[in-house]
Amino acid sequence: MRFNEKVAVVTGAGSGLGLLSAQQYAGEGAKVVLVDVNAQAIETAAEEIRQSGGEALAVPTDIRSYEAITQVVTRTVESYGRIDILANIAGGNPHRVCNCPGGFEEMSLEAMDWGIDVNFTGPIYFSRAVMPTMMQQKSGVIINLGSVGGVVGGSGAVIYGAAKSGLIGLTKSLALAGAPHGIRAVCVSPGPVLTREAMAGIKTPLGRAATPEEVTKFILYLSSEDAAMISGSNHLIDGARACGGYR
Ligand SMILES: NC(=O)c1ccc[n+]([C@@H]2O[C@H](COP(=O)([O-])OP(=O)(O)OC[C@H]3O[C@@H](n4cnc5c(N)ncnc54)[C@H](O)[C@@H]3O)[C@@H](O)[C@H]2O)c1
Repeated sequence: MRFNEKVAVVTGAGSGLGLLSAQQYAGEGAKVVLVDVNAQAIETAAEEIRQSGGEALAVPTDIRSYEAITQVVTRTVESYGRIDILANIAGGNPHRVCNCPGGFEEMSLEAMDWGIDVNFTGPIYFSRAVMPTMMQQKSGVIINLGSVGGVVGGSGAVIYGAAKSGLIGLTKSLALAGAPHGIRAVCVSPGPVLTREAMAGIKTPLGRAATPEEVTKFILYLSSEDAAMISGSNHLIDGARACGGYR
């Protein structure tokens, strides 16, 4: 129960890594605020957490809106009194999410904007919005979900890679800005993760994609007191994919 009495706000909590992280934070005692555009998914997940004896609040939110994010922060503080963890997990490659299968040269403006706004601007907005609360508490952890694409790039990830790369820089500066106030920031950059069957087809030197649990267990470790000296860093979980040599 590493997160007893802690409050975790998790974006992208409607599916995949965000959902599993929210469930695991709750399983270790945290009060969890689930944030996603998919209202039904987070309502269901929050209800399941409550049925298991945990505390959870679903707040349907589009993280592209700063106003909506400030409302999440206000509601969280009104409901639970504090914010110990912000896990910026919502994201995705706009080629897939916005159904733009062609190359970068064919990508629509709408898809480019979605890719930057959800993967990069949303985490900036959310980090900004929680900072005053965390500074007042003199503690807090911000987890940014990057990608190996933000470290090595990818021909099918021009916008996605740029946004995820930006998260690594955001994390470093947040760590410096937050350090005098007891706030840590870390970035986790997975290679392929089996939140979708298709990810099994993406190669790594270790010969497989990561399981979602292999990523979320590390997110929870970084969020915990065990990681009290880890801040400003980016952590690959990619089976050595960023080292190259797998083709
Ligand atoms: N799965 C992988 O292979 C992989 C690899 C590297 C990095 N990542 C990153 O991990 C994170 C989670 O990936 P996943 O596979 O669990 O994805 P997922 O698609 O299962 O979950 C993403 C969630 O974000 C939500 N979302 C989308 N737009 C939003 C918005 N505007 N506001 C609020 N919520 C929004 C979606 O509704 C969805 O529930 C993403 O940031 C992704 O880029 C995933």
